[in-house]
Amino acid sequence: MALAALLLLPLAVSMRAGVRLLRCSASSRGPASRAHVGLPKGVEWGRQYHRPASGAASGLPPQDKPFTVLGIETSCDDTGVAVVRSDGTILGEALASQAALHEEFGGVMPGVARDAHAEALDRVTAEALKRAGLASVADVDAVAVTVGPGLEICLRVGCESAKALALEHAKPFVAVHHLEAHVLMARLAAAEPVDFPFLTLLVSGGHCMLLLSRAVGEHYVIGSTLDDALGEAYDKVARLLDLPVGGGGGPALEALARDGSAGAVALPVPMSRKKNCDFSFAGLKTAVRRAIEKTDDARRAEPSFNADVAASFQDVAISHLEQRLRYAFELCEKAGDEWGCRPSTLVVSGGVAANAELRRRLQALCDATPAGAADGGGDDGGSWRLVVPPPRLCTDNGVMVAWAAVESLRLGRSHAAEGRDVRARWPLGPSIAQLTGEVEVPPKGYHARTAKVMRAIANTKPGKAEVDADQPA
Ligand code: KG4
Ligand code: ZN
Repeated sequence: MALAALLLLPLAVSMRAGVRLLRCSASSRGPASRAHVGLPKGVEWGRQYHRPASGAASGLPPQDKPFTVLGIETSCDDTGVAVVRSDGTILGEALASQAALHEEFGGVMPGVARDAHAEALDRVTAEALKRAGLASVADVDAVAVTVGPGLEICLRVGCESAKALALEHAKPFVAVHHLEAHVLMARLAAAEPVDFPFLTLLVSGGHCMLLLSRAVGEHYVIGSTLDDALGEAYDKVARLLDLPVGGGGGPALEALARDGSAGAVALPVPMSRKKNCDFSFAGLKTAVRRAIEKTDDARRAEPSFNADVAASFQDVAISHLEQRLRYAFELCEKAGDEWGCRPSTLVVSGGVAANAELRRRLQALCDATPAGAADGGGDDGGSWRLVVPPPRLCTDNGVMVAWAAVESLRLGRSHAAEGRDVRARWPLGPSIAQLTGEVEVPPKGYHARTAKVMRAIANTKPGKAEVDADQPA
């Protein structure tokens, strides 16, 4: 779960004509000979592909009728596979959770997770196909897999399997960005269409960011965590309270918080004086630890104490999100001037979006915030619309991978399976600093910068900021 340290590695930034391109400090694309490094012993991933004489393992499914995609997810600790039809019908899905395993080890051990994926993947794939009423991969129209970001050795289990299936059955192949799959999930799950552009709050175990999502493959990072991700903070506080953390500490902490009293333990709202869209959770976690340490044994022994800590932590963490969202709403208000339409939909996705209290509070925030758009694209001066996938689709799953691939294939985008490697580090889009050339902005400069940011985004030509597996890292 606590992937931030692994995933948010130092990035070297280089400027180029207004738009800065991001380079990872170390490329996650290894040479071909590394393709099988890190795979479990005894598992033959270099399978012989029985490639048919005709039919390429790339290209697109038929576009004149609904098509089906098999999606595979192994980026962290859940092995998820699903078959989704291009009209949004989830035909079959299966998930193998590693919660019990990681509970035993006190967290996600990459090698243990990789072996568990390797052990489960064929079984989970067969189960998803069976639930979809399909006999084999030959019956789907395309194969998709998460290739990053995530734990490299775990990603590779899914990637090698998906490549083998695509090549063996001569199916189009799509390399999916895990975070984009979380974002796009909202477009599958919503009752009403979720049109671009929209604002996205992505809250998972490894990431916490605010995005302006302008198109499939085009997301701008308008804020991100300076240290821990929100899910990671939940996991760490859950550990401080001796809660089960195997499948992530979030659900257990949320349940405990229901019995507690928010505000019973005084905790500071992070970065409350910083007027920007960034997040920070490390200080809050430390404040929780200190609050526990300085409490006397008698109070700590009371059953209500841990519940009060959980409720107070959750309350402050959500207050922090609310404050950042208010700034982001302001930013979107200004977007109208540059874009000719104002985003008025907030998508919340990622594992922590399964949290009922977070959903309730953000719904109240959206209801109370007017979203203007007299100039088209908005909701005629109504309030912000909140879209959150159902809880089971917020956490990692195969459906989101298959659906992200549907979105790509509809736009005519697929990838070559042959030679494809994983991208353990893979930014979802350019950051504000990259777009504007500014790294640190004083609070007073916020409004001036807002206009500048929107102009920079508006001037970024589609494609420049595209998330595509074929672009260099
Ligand atoms: O998106 P996800 O399944 O995996 C990543 O991509 O990281 O998110 C997992 C994170 C974990 O940190 C887990 O504790 C958290 O989501 N989480 C929750 C809840 N359900 C999962 N956090 C708070 N409340 C929940 N109900
Ligand atoms: Zn995830």
